[in-house]
Amino acid sequence: MIDYAAVWDEQHRAKTWGAYPNEYVVRFVMQRWGHVEARDRWSFLDVGCGNGAVTWFLAREGFRVRGVDVSPTAIKRLGDRLVADHLKARVALQVADIARSPLQASTFDCAIDVCCLQHLEPEDLESALVGIRKAPRPRGCVLSITARNRSATSGSQFRRISSWLSGVWCYGRDNRRT
Ligand SMILES: C[S@@+](CC[C@H](N)C(=O)[O-])C[C@H]1O[C@@H](n2cnc3c(N)ncnc32)[C@H](O)[C@@H]1O
Repeated sequence: MIDYAAVWDEQHRAKTWGAYPNEYVVRFVMQRWGHVEARDRWSFLDVGCGNGAVTWFLAREGFRVRGVDVSPTAIKRLGDRLVADHLKARVALQVADIARSPLQASTFDCAIDVCCLQHLEPEDLESALVGIRKAPRPRGCVLSITARNRSATSGSQFRRISSWLSGVWCYGRDNRRT
C-alpha cells in the first residue's frame, strides 16, 4: 500500500508546481459559469489541488472551492498564497488522501482533477472514483485532465478514469480532447 502522503510531501518539498491553471480548466469553467451572477453560490472541488493553481483561479473568479491534497506542504503553501491574495474566505482546504477519505456526496457543482487521479494505484483509483462520482450534485459534473502519454499514466489507468466518470473530459499531452 502506497503512503501517498510521504511520497507526495517529499515531492512538494523539493519543487513547486505551476501557479496558473491548465488552459482547459479556464475554458471549461468560464464557458459554463462565466456568465452567472452570484458566483459564490457555485462550488467546486479541486482533487489533488497541490499548491493550488486551480483552487486559486476559482477563488479569484469568485467561486467557492474545496481544495484537497494529501501533502501538508502543498496545502500550507496554497493557504499562504490565498491569504496573501485575500482569497481565503471562499476556500476550504483539507489535507486528505482521496483514495481513503470519504468525500461528501452531492456537495459540489463540479469536481476537477488535474493530473492527480492518474497517479493512484489501480485499487486506490477505483475507490477514489467512487467518491468523486458521487461528490457533484445531481446536475453537477466532473472534469478530469489526465496525461495519457506519460509514464505516469498507464493506458489502463486512463481508460478507467475516462470510463468510470460520466461527464469526464480527458486530454492527452498532445492537447487533443479524447
Ligand atoms: C501532478 S500534481 C498536480 C497538482 C495540481 N492538481 C496542479 O494541477 O497543479 C498531483 C497532485 O496530487 C496529489 N495527490 C497524489 N495522490 C493523492 C491522494 N491519494 N490524495 C490526495 N492528493 C493526492 C499530490 O500531492 C499532488 O499535489
